[in-house]
Amino acid sequence: MKPATSPKTYRVKSFGCQMNVYDGERMAEMLAEQGIAPAPEGEDADLVVLNTCHIREKAAEKVYSDIGRISKAGREAGKTPMIAVAGCVAQAEGEEIMARAPAVSMVVGPQAYHRMPSMIEKAARGERATDTDMPADAKFAALPQRRKSAPSAFLTIQEGCDKFCTYCVVPYTRGAEISRPFSALVDEAKKLVEAGAREITLLGQNVSAWTGEDDKGRTLGMAGLIRALAEDPDLKRIRYTTSHPADMDDDLIATHGEVEKLMPYLHLPVQSGSDRVLKAMNRSHTAESYLKLLDRFRAARPDLALSGDFIVGFPGETEAEFEETLSLVDAVGYAAAFSFKYSPRPGTPAATMDAQVAPEVMDERLQRLQASLNRDQHAFNKASEGKTCEVLVERRGKLEGQWLGKSPWLQSVFFDGADAGGIAIGDIVTAKLAQAGPNSIRGELVANAAA
Ligand code: SAH
Ligand code: SF4
Ligand code: F3S
Repeated sequence: MKPATSPKTYRVKSFGCQMNVYDGERMAEMLAEQGIAPAPEGEDADLVVLNTCHIREKAAEKVYSDIGRISKAGREAGKTPMIAVAGCVAQAEGEEIMARAPAVSMVVGPQAYHRMPSMIEKAARGERATDTDMPADAKFAALPQRRKSAPSAFLTIQEGCDKFCTYCVVPYTRGAEISRPFSALVDEAKKLVEAGAREITLLGQNVSAWTGEDDKGRTLGMAGLIRALAEDPDLKRIRYTTSHPADMDDDLIATHGEVEKLMPYLHLPVQSGSDRVLKAMNRSHTAESYLKLLDRFRAARPDLALSGDFIVGFPGETEAEFEETLSLVDAVGYAAAFSFKYSPRPGTPAATMDAQVAPEVMDERLQRLQASLNRDQHAFNKASEGKTCEVLVERRGKLEGQWLGKSPWLQSVFFDGADAGGIAIGDIVTAKLAQAGPNSIRGELVANAAA
C-alpha cells in the first residue's frame, strides 16, 4: 500500500519507558523541522509514528493491533496513512513487522530515527525501508536543537545497557552502553531551561554508569554532571532514572546530601528479595547488599523517598523465595514501586529456563506484592501530611482554579489557587500537604513562590 503524497501532518505515539518519551519528543521536533505539522487533536495524521516498547509481551503485541486500527481508520476516511514503526519492537522484530504488516512503510530502530526524513521521502515514492543500525552516538548530533520544553523535561545522558539481566531485552534493543559527551549535555540542559524547563530528569537505561570529561579534561561520573548542571540558577530540580545497584558510587551518594537541587527520590530497581533468584537473573547484587546501599543513601539524605521495580514469577521462583521479596519490601518501605509478572522474551536466557511459573501463581503473587507496595505508598503519603514543601506546578487540574504539580518526593499534589492569582505553569509554589489520597495529595497553597 502506497501512501499517496508526502505527509503534511504527523502524530507520534510513544509507549514504554521515559526514554521513549524523550525519543518521541525529539522525533516530533525533527518532523516539525521538515515542515510536517502536528496533527490537530482528534484528527487523523498523514504520518503516524508508533514508538514502541518490547519489554513485556503485552507491550510488544500492542503494535500490531495499533497498525490494524490506524489502517482501518484510514480506509474509512478514504486515505492511506503512512505508518512508521519505531522504538524497541522495531529494533527486535523489524523483519517480522515488515512481513506481517504490509501497511507499514518504515521500520526504524531507536538509534536510527534521525534518518527518518529520507525514509519518509522513500515511502512517499512507495518504497518501504528498514533502518535498525546501531550505535546511538550519531543520532544526538544529527537532531535539531531543543526549543520547547514542559516545566519538567527529560534529558537522555546515557543509553544502552551492558548488564544483560537474563530476563531483559534492553541490551538487544538499545545496544551497548554509551555516554553522551559532557558539553553536549550541558548545552542541551541550558536550551531546555531557556525553553521553560525548571526540572530535568537525567535518563539512561543504566544512568549512573554515565561517564565523561569536563571542559578541563577531568573525568567525571554522573555526580559530577549533576553538580555542573546544578550551577544553572534557573534550573531548580534535578532527578535521574534508572540506575542499577552495581553502579552507585560514593560520590553520587554524597551528592544526594550536598546538592539541594537533587530531589530526595531514588528509583533503584531490585527485582527480587531472593539471592538465588537474583543470581539466576544475573543481577550482581544480593538482598543484603541492596539494603546496605539504601542505608548509605538514607544516611546522606534522611528524607529520601525510595522506589523500585519488581518481577514476580521469574522461572523457578518458589513460594519461599517470593516471600523473601515480601520481606525485603517490608524492610525498605517504598514510597512508590512498579511490579510486573515475568514475561518470557524471545532471545533472552530466562525464556528457555526450566520451571516457568504458572500464570495463576504469578497472578496471585503479583496481587500480594502489590497489596504490600500499595500499603507502603499510602503510609508514605500519610506520613507527609502536615509537611510544607515546594511544588512544581505542571498543569491545571480538572476543577476551576485547581493546579497540579509534584512535591520533591515525586508525589502528585493538587491545590486550589483560585484566590491567589498569578500562578502559572512552571512556577514553584509553597504548599502544605494537607490530605493524602491513594494516588495524590491535596495541598493547601501557602505562598505563590518558593519559600
Ligand atoms: N534498567 C532499566 C530497566 C528497564 S525495564 C531501566 O533503566 O529502566 C523496566 C523494568 O521492567 C525492569 O526493572 C523490570 O522490573 C521489568 N522487566 C524487564 N524485563 C521484564 C520481563 N521480561 N518480564 C517482566 N518484567 C520485566
Ligand atoms: Fe534490563 Fe537489567 Fe539492563 Fe535494566 S540493568 S536494562 S533490567 S538488562
Ligand atoms: Fe521498552 Fe525499550 Fe524502554 S523495551 S522499556 S521502550 S528501552
